[in-house]
Amino acid sequence: MREIRAALDAGTFAALYAERRTTLGERDLDNPSVQPTPKPRRARTRGDYEVHASPLGFASIRHASSGEIMHATNDPDREAEALYVEQSALRRAGRPLVVWDVGLGAAHNAMAMIRSATSATAPVTLISFERDLDPFLLALAHQKEFPHLRHEAPHRFAVARRFASPTVDWSLVLGDFRDNFAAAPTPDVVMFDPFSSETNPELWSLALFTAMRARFERSVELFTYTRSTAIRSSLLGAGFTVARGAAAGMKPETTIALHGDDPSFTAHVRLDRAWLERRARSTARYAADIVDRDDLDRRIERHPQFADPLTGADAAR
Ligand SMILES: C[S@@+](CC[C@H](N)C(=O)[O-])C[C@H]1O[C@@H](n2cnc3c(N)ncnc32)[C@H](O)[C@@H]1O
Repeated sequence: MREIRAALDAGTFAALYAERRTTLGERDLDNPSVQPTPKPRRARTRGDYEVHASPLGFASIRHASSGEIMHATNDPDREAEALYVEQSALRRAGRPLVVWDVGLGAAHNAMAMIRSATSATAPVTLISFERDLDPFLLALAHQKEFPHLRHEAPHRFAVARRFASPTVDWSLVLGDFRDNFAAAPTPDVVMFDPFSSETNPELWSLALFTAMRARFERSVELFTYTRSTAIRSSLLGAGFTVARGAAAGMKPETTIALHGDDPSFTAHVRLDRAWLERRARSTARYAADIVDRDDLDRRIERHPQFADPLTGADAAR
């Protein structure tokens, strides 16, 4: 360096450079500097799914072919708690519960239920239905961005497809929900979280809701994120009592479908005749699978939840 500075001062650097460059280059070849090997980046995609960093400051899993993002608009863990766990009146009653987790996805709902089971007085049997484990395994490989999975349960579940503790017995039913729910133990609570009815129409059909309700052997609360008039109509058509679900983040309202008459269900605010009147004016009151619209309208109008509280007369009259 001293020589270089002196050459610069004397205006002879070009000559010095020409003289020394070859020698210095040779010494570099003899002693190559050691470059740290870059760590291979974990793949951010798996099958049809990719990790999506929301500008709102949390990560979600995106379904590439439909473009749908799981829990897109709200912090996924907060939404899972507000929508699928905290609303449950049966859960507050403190009895052992069988919970169906329809669409395991990245396991936000399942983990919210497991966290809440830890502080509950009665154990939870949690059954996750999923046809593709890629979103779960992708999120599990990115725990830094999915802190809900920093827990013993999902790691054991990924290997054994089951996790059991004194508070929760979590198992997996792999395959199409429609083919498998009838053989599962009857639930008390259903966390119903498929993709939208555009991407997953088969899971929002009147036929499926009717078959699910027929499977239910005791009082059931079904929670779901939509407040679509068409989906609420199909749930009513299948015979469920339908109530307003809590707001969740940017969703002003969600939906609760009830089967049976557990006394705790009085906590839920049912759709009333004012909703029925709005439905009559709605241009989007039928889901795509509804063939006999008149029949659906009749079933809804005669649904006991809309009977006049004073006369008991149904809304059709
Ligand atoms: C919106 S994501 C669920 C998000 C998830 N509940 C969570 O907390 O992260 C919907 C999931 O439903 C699954 N799914 C869609 N159709 C299904 C079917 N017919 N049977 C079982 N799972 C299905 C998808 O593979 C996807 O993982």
